[in-house]
Formats: sequence, C-alpha cells, structure tokens
Amino acid sequence: MAERILITGGAGFIGSNFIRKFIGRPDIEIVNIDALTYAGNLGNLSDIEHQTNYHFVKGSIGDEALVRKTIGDYEINGIINFAAESHVDRSILNSKPFIDTNVAGTLTLLDAAREFNINRFLQVSTDEVYGSLGADGLFTEETPVSPNSPYSASKASADHLVQAYHETYGLPTVITRCSNNYGPFQFPEKLIPLMILNALEDKDLPVYGDGLNVRDWIHVEDHCEAIYLIFAQGRDGDVYNIGGNAERTNIEIVKLLLSILGKPESLIKFVKDRPGHDRRYAIDSAKIETTLRWNRRIAFEEGIRQTVDWYLASPQWCDSVRSGGYMDYYTLQYGASE
Ligand code: NAD
Ligand code: DAU
Repeated sequence: MAERILITGGAGFIGSNFIRKFIGRPDIEIVNIDALTYAGNLGNLSDIEHQTNYHFVKGSIGDEALVRKTIGDYEINGIINFAAESHVDRSILNSKPFIDTNVAGTLTLLDAAREFNINRFLQVSTDEVYGSLGADGLFTEETPVSPNSPYSASKASADHLVQAYHETYGLPTVITRCSNNYGPFQFPEKLIPLMILNALEDKDLPVYGDGLNVRDWIHVEDHCEAIYLIFAQGRDGDVYNIGGNAERTNIEIVKLLLSILGKPESLIKFVKDRPGHDRRYAIDSAKIETTLRWNRRIAFEEGIRQTVDWYLASPQWCDSVRSGGYMDYYTLQYGASE
C-alpha cells in the first residue's frame, strides 16, 4: 500500500528539500499543505510540481476544517510536521505568530491525527529546545528541555504536546531534534545565505556579539534522510537527535564564505548581540546512528562549497525571495544603512 504522507510547510527550506528527495519514489504519495508565509515559496518545487504523486493545498495547519478535509480527501496515513515560524530573530521582534503556528497549529494537527487514526506523526523539532551548552558536552535525548528564545520555547511547547498525545492517547509519534541546516533554497534571513548574498553585493556582514557562538552544521539532505528513516523505522514515543558533527564558530563560517567567494574580511561588521543568544549547540547523534544505522553523507567543506555554487547559480530565486516584505524585515533587524 502506498504511503500517503501529509507534509506541512513543504514550500519552505527543509520541507521542499524533503519533497524533492522522496517524490521520485512510486510507493510514496505526498500532499503538501503550506500557508505560503514570507518563508514559503512554491518556486522551490517548480521542478517536481507536475508529478502525479504530488499535491499542493494552500492553507494553515491551524485551520481545523482544512486540515481534516485534506487528511480525509487524500486518505493520509502519515504526517510530517515541518510547518513553523522558524527564525529566532523574528521571534524576538514578535513572538505571537510563533505561538499560533508552532504551538496551536501543531495541536490542530495532533487532534486531526487522532481522529483519523494516523499511523505515524513525526514532529520536526530542533536542538534549540535544549537551550545552550558551555564549552564542553553534547545534547543527548536525555538533556532536559530548557529553551531560551520565544522560537525555541514555542518548539519545546509543541514537543511537550506531541509527547503528551503519545502518552495520553497512544498516538504513534516521533520527534526529531536537529542542529543547524544549510543547503539550497534556504531563506536569506539565516546566517549562511545572508552572508553569501551580502558578500556578493559587497554589503556589510553583520556578525552578532563576538562571533564566537558555536553551531553544529548539517547539510539539509542528510537531515531529510534522517527524517524519513525515523518516520519509517523510529520507535513510537521516542525522540531522536540529528547532528552534523561539524561545530564551527560563526566567525569561522563567515570567513570561510568570504574566502570561497574571494571577498575581503573587511566586509565583516560586528554588531549588537542577539538578546538571549545561545552560546553553543552540539549534538550527540549516537542513538540514530546505532539504532537506525543513519550516517551523514555530506562533509561540511564539500557541502558549503556546493551551497555557495547553488546561490551563485540562482540569482532569480534570490531576487524573488528578497522582494516585498523581506527588505522591511532587513531594515527593522539591521538598520536602514545596510
Ligand atoms: P522555513 O521557515 O524555511 O519554512 C517554514 C514553512 O512553513 C514555510 O513554507 C511556511 O510558509 C510554512 N508555514 C509557516 N506557518 C505555517 C502555517 N501556519 N501553516 C502551514 N504552513 C506554514 O523553515 P525551515 O528552516 O525549512 O524549518 C522547517 C522545520 O524544521 C521547522 O519546524 C523548524 O523548526 C525545523 N528545524 C529547522 C532547522 C534549520 O536549521 N532551518 C533545524 C532544525 C529544525
Ligand atoms: O539549531 C537549529 C536552529 O537553527 C533551527 O531550529 C532554527 O529554525 C534555525 O533558524 C537555526 O537557528 P539559529 O538561530 O542558530 O540560526 P541563524 O541562522 O539565525 O543564526 C546562526 C548563528 O549566526 C547564530 O549564532 C546567530 C548568528 N547570526 C545570525 C544572523 C542572521 C549572526 O551573527 N548574524 C546574523 O545576521
């Protein structure tokens, strides 16, 4: 029997990469529900939208009637919830949309999943729910949840609801907590594409604080493979960490991008720190590696070069996603002079 998967937020960065990766499989039918916020772009899927096993529904995961109708009409048997407000800086400017989508929207999906006896509900969460690490140690699945930003608090709240629906109602859930993704189609509010595009235009590269905050970078394709493996084989009720094993300080990332692009380090501008800025994230992926035999395939230096090449080859995409509201956000976040 074909798997009929409801992908939420499939027009965003990770969701669109996931759909492209798995839509070629004849045993999988994908229905993508996406509200097409500033971060959602159907152009991310223009190369696969004609496929007969792909369907798009425009709307919010918070729209109860639409969610139920979509699950019923397409006889959905699994849900992967990518849909979210995903940017920390925006959550600091205005947290309300984060609660609406990340918490209330997830709850709507959980209730529908119960009603329709969904076989598998995968919640795409984040390592940010664990809070911040000091210089040593790694996040494991047993690390207590301790979020610091409105974004990570909303994701942690959703995780608690997912876990509660498993414990209380026996819903077959799994939760994934991944580190920072990079790769094609990432919206240029995030560190790597923002720095690539600013450098190409010889604009300042705004590095928060001392630039020594550490993130663990993973290529989006490795994340997507892990998600499908956990969706198919993960244990009900479990949490799985997914990491890139590639810890880098922000300043290392920015300098690497400048050197790949042949641009001067004088473009770097240290700016006011992000409030509540988590110092370090680093993931222990031993559980998924040993129990599900997952391994990342793309080494960081290779992946980052491919990513830079993709942005260089995609000027139309870059122009289209930066039109309209993006420049208003940029001015609010970084000031009018950029
Ligand atoms: P993104 O911002 O690029 O995309 C989010 C998508 O969700 C967009 O297409 C948007 O239109 C859609 N969306 C927003 N609100 C919606 C709503 N109410 N109903 C339906 N669709 C809605 O985000 P991303 O970087 O692709 O992240 C996807 C998921 O992965 C998120 O849940 C995020 O928390 C998680 N995650 C991201 C990273 C990362 O590094 N980007 C790492 C770990 C986990
Ligand atoms: O760890 C997973 C998380 O990674 C995901 O859950 C989030 O959805 C995703 O946005 C990402 O969160 P971060 O806050 O780590 O990513 P961001 O790209 O915003 O920032 C990465 C680091 O770079 C962080 O330490 C802040 C810094 N930074 C970011 C921007 C946008 C700067 O120094 N300057 C900037 O202009």
